[in-house]
Amino acid sequence: MSTSTTAKLNVREYYVNRYKETKPAEQEWNAGTAMPELINFVIDGRIPYGANVLDIGCGVGTEAVFLATRGFNVSAIDISATAIEKTRQLAEFYGVALDAQVSDVLDLPMENAGVDLVTDRGCFHCIRADERAIFAAEIARVLKPGGLYVLRCFSSQKPGVPKPTNENDFVIKTFGVSSQEIWDTFSRDFICEKLELVASFPALDRPDPYGWFCLWHKA
Ligand SMILES: C[S@@+](CC[C@H](N)C(=O)[O-])C[C@H]1O[C@@H](n2cnc3c(N)ncnc32)[C@H](O)[C@@H]1O
Repeated sequence: MSTSTTAKLNVREYYVNRYKETKPAEQEWNAGTAMPELINFVIDGRIPYGANVLDIGCGVGTEAVFLATRGFNVSAIDISATAIEKTRQLAEFYGVALDAQVSDVLDLPMENAGVDLVTDRGCFHCIRADERAIFAAEIARVLKPGGLYVLRCFSSQKPGVPKPTNENDFVIKTFGVSSQEIWDTFSRDFICEKLELVASFPALDRPDPYGWFCLWHKA
Protein backbone atom coordinates (compact mmCIF):
# COMPACT_ATOMS: atom_id res chain seq x y z
CA MET A 1 0.00 0.00 0.00
CA SER A 2 1.42 3.39 -0.94
CA THR A 3 1.94 6.14 1.65
CA SER A 4 -0.67 8.20 -0.11
CA THR A 5 -3.27 5.43 0.17
CA THR A 6 -2.48 4.96 3.86
CA ALA A 7 -2.95 8.68 4.48
CA LYS A 8 -6.19 8.63 2.53
CA LEU A 9 -7.62 5.95 4.81
CA ASN A 10 -6.35 7.75 7.85
CA VAL A 11 -8.61 10.80 8.01
CA ARG A 12 -11.67 8.78 7.06
CA GLU A 13 -10.91 6.11 9.65
CA TYR A 14 -10.43 8.80 12.25
CA TYR A 15 -14.04 9.95 11.85
CA VAL A 16 -15.47 6.47 11.39
CA ASN A 17 -13.84 5.45 14.68
CA ARG A 18 -14.80 8.61 16.57
CA TYR A 19 -18.46 8.17 15.63
CA LYS A 20 -18.35 4.49 16.63
CA GLU A 21 -16.54 5.03 19.92
CA THR A 22 -18.05 8.25 21.28
CA LYS A 23 -21.40 9.86 21.89
CA PRO A 24 -22.40 12.95 19.90
CA ALA A 25 -21.82 15.15 22.97
CA GLU A 26 -18.20 13.95 23.08
CA GLN A 27 -17.55 14.87 19.44
CA GLU A 28 -16.11 18.35 19.69
CA TRP A 29 -17.48 19.43 16.29
CA ASN A 30 -21.09 18.79 17.30
CA ALA A 31 -22.73 22.13 17.94
CA GLY A 32 -26.27 20.88 18.50
CA THR A 33 -27.44 23.62 16.16
CA ALA A 34 -26.97 24.87 12.64
CA MET A 35 -24.47 27.72 12.33
CA PRO A 36 -25.92 31.27 12.49
CA GLU A 37 -24.56 31.96 9.00
CA LEU A 38 -26.65 29.11 7.55
CA ILE A 39 -29.72 30.02 9.59
CA ASN A 40 -29.52 33.64 8.40
CA PHE A 41 -29.00 32.48 4.86
CA VAL A 42 -32.25 30.49 5.05
CA ILE A 43 -34.16 33.29 6.84
CA ASP A 44 -33.01 35.76 4.17
CA GLY A 45 -34.79 33.58 1.61
CA ARG A 46 -31.64 32.95 -0.40
CA ILE A 47 -32.78 29.40 -1.19
CA PRO A 48 -36.21 28.88 -2.73
CA TYR A 49 -38.59 26.72 -0.71
CA GLY A 50 -38.32 23.09 -1.81
CA ALA A 51 -34.87 23.53 -3.37
CA ASN A 52 -32.58 20.52 -3.62
CA VAL A 53 -29.94 20.78 -0.92
CA LEU A 54 -26.96 18.51 -0.32
CA ASP A 55 -25.13 18.47 3.04
CA ILE A 56 -21.65 17.02 2.59
CA GLY A 57 -19.96 15.53 5.67
CA CYS A 58 -23.31 15.86 7.47
CA GLY A 59 -22.18 14.18 10.69
CA VAL A 60 -25.11 13.39 12.97
CA GLY A 61 -27.36 15.48 10.75
CA THR A 62 -27.79 18.69 12.76
CA GLU A 63 -27.79 21.01 9.76
CA ALA A 64 -29.38 18.53 7.33
CA VAL A 65 -32.36 18.11 9.64
CA PHE A 66 -32.58 21.87 10.23
CA LEU A 67 -32.82 22.34 6.45
CA ALA A 68 -35.39 19.55 6.10
CA THR A 69 -37.55 21.17 8.79
CA ARG A 70 -37.41 24.41 6.76
CA GLY A 71 -38.98 22.65 3.77
CA PHE A 72 -35.97 21.86 1.61
CA ASN A 73 -35.48 18.61 -0.25
CA VAL A 74 -32.39 17.40 1.59
CA SER A 75 -29.77 14.82 0.72
CA ALA A 76 -26.92 14.23 3.13
CA ILE A 77 -23.76 12.17 2.89
CA ASP A 78 -21.00 11.21 5.30
CA ILE A 79 -18.14 8.74 5.28
CA SER A 80 -19.32 7.31 8.63
CA ALA A 81 -22.17 4.77 8.69
CA THR A 82 -22.73 5.57 12.38
CA ALA A 83 -23.14 9.26 11.60
CA ILE A 84 -25.60 8.47 8.81
CA GLU A 85 -27.61 6.26 11.15
CA LYS A 86 -27.76 9.14 13.67
CA THR A 87 -28.85 11.51 10.88
CA ARG A 88 -31.69 9.17 9.94
CA GLN A 89 -32.73 8.85 13.60
CA LEU A 90 -32.71 12.64 14.05
CA ALA A 91 -34.80 13.10 10.92
CA GLU A 92 -37.25 10.48 12.15
CA PHE A 93 -37.42 12.18 15.56
CA TYR A 94 -38.36 15.47 13.87
CA GLY A 95 -40.71 13.72 11.47
CA VAL A 96 -38.98 14.98 8.34
CA ALA A 97 -37.89 13.09 5.26
CA LEU A 98 -34.34 13.25 3.95
CA ASP A 99 -32.04 11.02 1.95
CA ALA A 100 -28.95 10.16 4.03
CA GLN A 101 -26.28 7.94 2.51
CA VAL A 102 -22.81 6.71 3.36
CA SER A 103 -20.54 8.12 0.70
CA ASP A 104 -17.16 9.68 0.11
CA VAL A 105 -17.45 13.32 -0.86
CA LEU A 106 -14.89 12.70 -3.59
CA ASP A 107 -17.35 10.34 -5.33
CA LEU A 108 -20.85 11.70 -4.74
CA PRO A 109 -23.80 9.39 -5.48
CA MET A 110 -25.64 12.13 -7.40
CA GLU A 111 -26.42 12.89 -10.98
CA ASN A 112 -24.93 15.90 -12.69
CA ALA A 113 -26.46 19.35 -12.19
CA GLY A 114 -29.39 18.39 -9.92
CA VAL A 115 -28.57 20.30 -6.73
CA ASP A 116 -29.43 23.95 -5.95
CA LEU A 117 -27.24 24.26 -2.89
CA VAL A 118 -24.35 22.30 -1.41
CA THR A 119 -23.70 23.05 2.25
CA ASP A 120 -20.52 22.13 4.07
CA ARG A 121 -19.68 22.66 7.72
CA GLY A 122 -16.28 21.20 8.40
CA CYS A 123 -15.90 18.74 5.52
CA PHE A 124 -13.59 20.69 3.20
CA HIS A 125 -11.00 21.18 5.91
CA CYS A 126 -10.82 17.38 6.33
CA ILE A 127 -9.72 16.97 2.73
CA ARG A 128 -6.03 16.60 1.90
CA ALA A 129 -4.44 19.25 -0.28
CA ASP A 130 -3.90 16.78 -3.12
CA GLU A 131 -7.60 15.81 -3.07
CA ARG A 132 -9.00 19.35 -3.15
CA ALA A 133 -9.28 19.58 -6.94
CA ILE A 134 -11.40 16.40 -7.01
CA PHE A 135 -13.49 17.78 -4.14
CA ALA A 136 -14.22 21.04 -6.00
CA ALA A 137 -14.92 19.19 -9.25
CA GLU A 138 -17.46 16.89 -7.53
CA ILE A 139 -19.34 19.83 -6.03
CA ALA A 140 -19.31 21.66 -9.36
CA ARG A 141 -20.54 18.51 -11.10
CA VAL A 142 -23.63 18.01 -8.91
CA LEU A 143 -24.64 21.70 -8.73
CA LYS A 144 -27.00 23.29 -11.22
CA PRO A 145 -25.54 26.22 -13.16
CA GLY A 146 -25.66 29.18 -10.80
CA GLY A 147 -26.10 26.81 -7.82
CA LEU A 148 -24.57 27.76 -4.49
CA TYR A 149 -21.85 26.22 -2.36
CA VAL A 150 -21.92 27.36 1.27
CA LEU A 151 -18.59 26.59 2.91
CA ARG A 152 -17.70 26.88 6.58
CA CYS A 153 -14.22 25.70 7.52
CA PHE A 154 -11.46 26.41 10.00
CA SER A 155 -8.99 29.14 9.22
CA SER A 156 -5.26 28.71 9.54
CA GLN A 157 -4.92 32.46 10.11
CA LYS A 158 -6.27 32.77 13.61
CA PRO A 159 -5.52 31.14 16.95
CA GLY A 160 -7.85 28.47 18.22
CA VAL A 161 -7.70 26.06 15.29
CA PRO A 162 -8.64 22.79 16.99
CA LYS A 163 -6.70 19.64 17.39
CA PRO A 164 -8.63 16.37 17.51
CA THR A 165 -8.37 14.72 20.92
CA ASN A 166 -6.99 11.56 19.31
CA GLU A 167 -3.42 12.62 18.54
CA ASN A 168 -3.05 11.80 14.89
CA ASP A 169 -0.50 13.79 12.99
CA PHE A 170 -2.17 13.49 9.65
CA VAL A 171 -5.59 14.60 10.85
CA ILE A 172 -4.13 17.54 12.73
CA LYS A 173 -2.32 18.72 9.61
CA THR A 174 -5.52 18.76 7.59
CA PHE A 175 -7.25 21.33 9.80
CA GLY A 176 -7.18 25.06 9.16
CA VAL A 177 -6.95 26.43 5.62
CA SER A 178 -5.89 29.83 4.32
CA SER A 179 -7.98 32.14 2.14
CA GLN A 180 -5.43 31.56 -0.64
CA GLU A 181 -5.95 27.79 -0.43
CA ILE A 182 -9.73 28.27 -0.59
CA TRP A 183 -9.36 30.63 -3.55
CA ASP A 184 -7.00 28.27 -5.37
CA THR A 185 -9.41 25.35 -4.89
CA PHE A 186 -12.69 26.93 -5.97
CA SER A 187 -12.04 29.95 -8.18
CA ARG A 188 -11.68 27.88 -11.34
CA ASP A 189 -15.27 26.53 -11.35
CA PHE A 190 -17.00 29.02 -9.03
CA ILE A 191 -17.60 32.76 -8.68
CA CYS A 192 -16.95 34.08 -5.17
CA GLU A 193 -19.69 36.09 -3.48
CA LYS A 194 -18.25 36.04 0.03
CA LEU A 195 -15.12 34.89 1.79
CA GLU A 196 -15.03 36.21 5.35
CA LEU A 197 -13.71 35.26 8.76
CA VAL A 198 -16.37 34.39 11.29
CA ALA A 199 -15.99 33.54 14.94
CA SER A 200 -19.02 31.36 15.30
CA PHE A 201 -17.62 27.87 14.92
CA PRO A 202 -18.89 26.48 18.20
CA ALA A 203 -16.76 23.92 19.96
CA LEU A 204 -17.19 22.12 23.23
CA ASP A 205 -13.81 22.33 24.84
CA ARG A 206 -12.19 25.60 23.80
CA PRO A 207 -13.00 29.16 22.79
CA ASP A 208 -14.67 29.49 19.42
CA PRO A 209 -12.02 29.04 16.79
CA TYR A 210 -12.19 31.38 13.85
CA GLY A 211 -13.43 29.96 10.59
CA TRP A 212 -14.24 30.97 7.06
CA PHE A 213 -17.75 31.55 5.80
CA CYS A 214 -17.78 31.48 2.00
CA LEU A 215 -20.44 31.64 -0.68
CA TRP A 216 -19.55 30.36 -4.12
CA HIS A 217 -21.76 30.34 -7.21
CA LYS A 218 -21.17 27.64 -9.76
CA ALA A 219 -19.95 29.46 -12.85
C1 LIG B 1 -16.06 18.44 11.51
S1 LIG B 1 -17.22 17.16 11.15
C2 LIG B 1 -18.68 18.15 10.78
C3 LIG B 1 -19.98 17.36 10.79
C4 LIG B 1 -21.25 18.17 10.44
N1 LIG B 1 -21.14 18.85 9.16
C5 LIG B 1 -21.61 19.15 11.52
O1 LIG B 1 -21.50 20.35 11.28
O2 LIG B 1 -21.98 18.71 12.62
C6 LIG B 1 -16.65 16.67 9.52
C7 LIG B 1 -17.48 15.58 8.91
O3 LIG B 1 -16.99 15.29 7.60
C8 LIG B 1 -17.01 13.88 7.41
N2 LIG B 1 -16.02 13.54 6.39
C9 LIG B 1 -14.68 13.68 6.45
N3 LIG B 1 -14.10 13.29 5.31
C10 LIG B 1 -15.11 12.88 4.50
C11 LIG B 1 -15.17 12.36 3.18
N4 LIG B 1 -14.05 12.16 2.47
N5 LIG B 1 -16.37 12.07 2.64
C12 LIG B 1 -17.51 12.25 3.37
N6 LIG B 1 -17.52 12.74 4.62
C13 LIG B 1 -16.33 13.04 5.18
C14 LIG B 1 -16.70 13.31 8.78
O4 LIG B 1 -17.10 11.97 8.95
C15 LIG B 1 -17.44 14.28 9.69
O5 LIG B 1 -18.76 13.86 9.94
